[in-house]
Amino acid sequence: IQVLKGNNDLSKLVLKTSTSSCEIYIHGAHITSFKTNSIEHLFMSEKSGFQDTKAIRGGVPLIWPQFGNGKIQTHGFARNCDWEIHKALVDEKAQSVQIEFLLRNNEYSDKIWNCNITSGKETVNSFHTIYRVTLHPDFLDLEFDVKNTSATSDNILEFQIAFHTYYQISNIDNVYVLGLEGRDYIDKMNNHKITKELNQKVQISNETDRVYLNVVPTQSTGVGKNYQPLQLIDNGSKTSITLTYDYQSMPDVVVWNPWIEKSKKMDDFADNEYHNMICIEIGTINTPVKLSPNQSFQTKHSILPSNKSSL
Ligand code: BG6
Repeated sequence: IQVLKGNNDLSKLVLKTSTSSCEIYIHGAHITSFKTNSIEHLFMSEKSGFQDTKAIRGGVPLIWPQFGNGKIQTHGFARNCDWEIHKALVDEKAQSVQIEFLLRNNEYSDKIWNCNITSGKETVNSFHTIYRVTLHPDFLDLEFDVKNTSATSDNILEFQIAFHTYYQISNIDNVYVLGLEGRDYIDKMNNHKITKELNQKVQISNETDRVYLNVVPTQSTGVGKNYQPLQLIDNGSKTSITLTYDYQSMPDVVVWNPWIEKSKKMDDFADNEYHNMICIEIGTINTPVKLSPNQSFQTKHSILPSNKSSL
């Protein structure tokens, strides 16, 4: 584990195992690189600003406590805060490296994020969040814990969360997503209409912004049918990435690609970069989590790239 100066002089941590590496900025606890066998799995925009007031574009932005637009800034403030390094751990036996970040309510969050009121008066949200990133030789584990630390009994901590991962792909025409067939999704490109996914292979050929709901793994019935995990397949680079997650705490999956017109409107994203990225975001979006004082929430998501030879 090394601490280095990254783009624009922001501090970043570099984690390494024998066959993998990962880079994480303190700003947003934002993962900007994850490589196995020297292959990069995350997309980063060449136009990302790396300013300490704005989220980094690409990698794994951590979306918390709000997904999308709402009472506070879009996608919450976790991706715009500097996190504290809480712990670092090297596990020789598992050959893994772990880093733990901490974020508590602070002057900034107190100013912008108040509780939903039950007693008629507004109070600040009190929280203690841990973000744990564990780099294994061939996969990455992301764990997120939240505790409502308020001492006032009716202060309910309410939030959404998502790992907003940008995957690096050979070309959008070469990729598809498995594991979404039969799910309902909110189609943000069509007035938030609830639509059923009919495709076994979900391909992207225009602006796509969907929240798939309750993506709980099921066993397909019938001879020869097997459980289909959530997977990103890239026929160009001959790689696949399997995404596992604790679906009880994070049942929703977002698929997003801005395509050409939206790309042109984003000042920290190059016009033609939509060819080389797809966001598959695991989260709790549709039904926010509500924690009473002293209650905790824990969740976990893993990113498991295949070996090149397995496709
Ligand atoms: C996705 C949303 O998660 O993030 C999209 O579903 C949004 O609607 C996209 O455009 C990017 O958001 P931002 O705030 O990082 O530009």
